[in-house]
Amino acid sequence: MQNNTFSGLFIGRNLITLKEVDSTNTFLKNALSKSTPLFDGTVIMADMQLAGRGQSRNSWLSEAGKNLTFSILLNPAFLRIDRQFDLNIAVSLAINDFLNTYTSGKAFIKWPNDSYILGKKIGGLLIENIVHGNTIKHAIIGIGLNVNQEKFPAELRNVTSLKQALHQDYNLVNLLGEICSKIEARYLQLKAGNADHLRDEYLSQLYLKDEWAFFKFDGQIQSGKIRGITTIGQLILETEDGLRHFNNKEIEFVN
Ligand code: BTN
Repeated sequence: MQNNTFSGLFIGRNLITLKEVDSTNTFLKNALSKSTPLFDGTVIMADMQLAGRGQSRNSWLSEAGKNLTFSILLNPAFLRIDRQFDLNIAVSLAINDFLNTYTSGKAFIKWPNDSYILGKKIGGLLIENIVHGNTIKHAIIGIGLNVNQEKFPAELRNVTSLKQALHQDYNLVNLLGEICSKIEARYLQLKAGNADHLRDEYLSQLYLKDEWAFFKFDGQIQSGKIRGITTIGQLILETEDGLRHFNNKEIEFVN
């Protein structure tokens, strides 16, 4: 399907909109497993996900028709699996580029997958890769972004939306077009070999970087200061015992 809302070269040129689906990531994964031919840059957008998935087997809850829940198919055959976090960096930066146009540069990336404005979570990213040899054959980039939702269930603490922050309603397809063009620009920078530059920008936009804060690790709440990210995407934290590296499940932020 061709459409005109998307100004980029390929991401979103093929847009499939679904009223209801279990999860847009699962939809793309199933289509690929059945060898359904899909263009690089295909976007699946859903009004409502019945089983939206988040990081660490969490669910992703989103009020029907109010927010952006979508997945992008990319075929980054140029990306080695040991550098897969570079794709997370490129997409996280693109989401921040988009949010910064609405929040005057006040958006942050919370490692490893969250987008933050005003100290609250506004979006999340779930990238699922299908590998071939030691490169990535397909990457399914799932993004949930709270847009027009005003009230959130009590179990979702510390979340916000564009509407809560900026008191306006937004057209979801227009926003999707804007995000897709930001993602395409960052993805093309990655493909052109600018991973080091993207990493530097990512670090400059990282939530709580170089600030003492509380984290939970080794079963205890302890203070630490985020110093960076390793090439495989581990968090580098300065602790009282020196610099340590953490995988996603080994550490929690304590608000
Ligand atoms: C997280 O913050 O834990 C990541 C959330 C990712 C949610 C998006 S919504 C579209 C896509 N489909 C899914 O099932 N999950 C991602």
